[in-house]
Amino acid sequence: MPSGAEEKAEKGTSEFDFSAIVPGLLHWYDRNARILPWREDSSPYRVWISEIMLQQTRVEAAKPYFERFLAALPDLASLASAPEELLLKLWEGLGYYSRVRNLARCARIIQAEYGGHFPGSAEELRRLPGIGEYTAGAIASISFGLPEPAVDGNVLRVAARLTGYLGEVTQPRFRKEITGKLRAVYPAGRCGDFTQSLMELGAVVCLPNGAPKCSCCPLAELCEGRRAGTAAEIPVRAPKKPRRVERRCVFLLCCGERVALRKRPSEGLLAGLWEFPALEGAFEVSRLAELGIPPETPVERVVSARHVFSHLEWEMQGYLAELSQPVEGYEWVTRQELETRISLPSAFRVFRRFLLTGK
Ligand code: ADE
Repeated sequence: MPSGAEEKAEKGTSEFDFSAIVPGLLHWYDRNARILPWREDSSPYRVWISEIMLQQTRVEAAKPYFERFLAALPDLASLASAPEELLLKLWEGLGYYSRVRNLARCARIIQAEYGGHFPGSAEELRRLPGIGEYTAGAIASISFGLPEPAVDGNVLRVAARLTGYLGEVTQPRFRKEITGKLRAVYPAGRCGDFTQSLMELGAVVCLPNGAPKCSCCPLAELCEGRRAGTAAEIPVRAPKKPRRVERRCVFLLCCGERVALRKRPSEGLLAGLWEFPALEGAFEVSRLAELGIPPETPVERVVSARHVFSHLEWEMQGYLAELSQPVEGYEWVTRQELETRISLPSAFRVFRRFLLTGK
């Protein structure tokens, strides 16, 4: 049963005429679209890779990743046959490594089942691994010119402000409603530009965190949030649950020029990626045995780091130990390999830097 506020908010949403935004928004986009590497050509491969990256990082940060990825793996065939270590290296620092694994899986499926050509409908695209509603809409509209919305956080914020929506924007009901309303007004011949104009407005004008630049917004006259003076408070979000904090001891085990690494379990957080040997909880000498380290080994407390995941926070304390023999059960890599070949999640960046520079 919707609450009073939601009822009011919904009413506003249903009254808003989305067709009115199309001409002004496209006109603005024609004059203001940023020049971005993935806009040079709108082939589905480029749109797909860029959209997956942009789900994880900002446009400025994504640009060098995109250029490097496309230079190394310029097409579906090269992605489908890329070794996992290369994929992880190209993705290093972006996080959510399952996404790059899904890119490769998806490339193999398109090669095997679609003759190396992306399927041309949003519905078929959505059936591929790692392609959800948003990415399918982006590829279908930008690459294939179809009237398929791509509703991400930017677009939800723009739509919520335009309609003066005071309910929670993360509710699936709101996303569904906005998707339907937008789909109905997609302009034939300019579907890709319409998708990108909505994203672009959210990225450069209708900014998050209470900072919309209404004075330079092409839709200001149509915006219910601006009229009602609520634009800065929109989008309304449910309060976030506090993250669980986990203490970890991270061991920088050295043996001459080599350093110990191990692979994380194949399921769960940072699945299958390299890490330094670690223990959950507090350090005690008696626990060294859990890692196969002789108990008489001198251990020095060194750098610490914190890493925030979506639902979890790691508080990590590093411990440095020089071993006379390599202990079994680890991959002993040289410092040079640690720098150039091994893809290490950014959670461990501080420890890698310490091993390479002593700081
Ligand atoms: N954010 C998400 N997708 C984008 C795109 N294609 N261009 C600019 N910003 C974006």
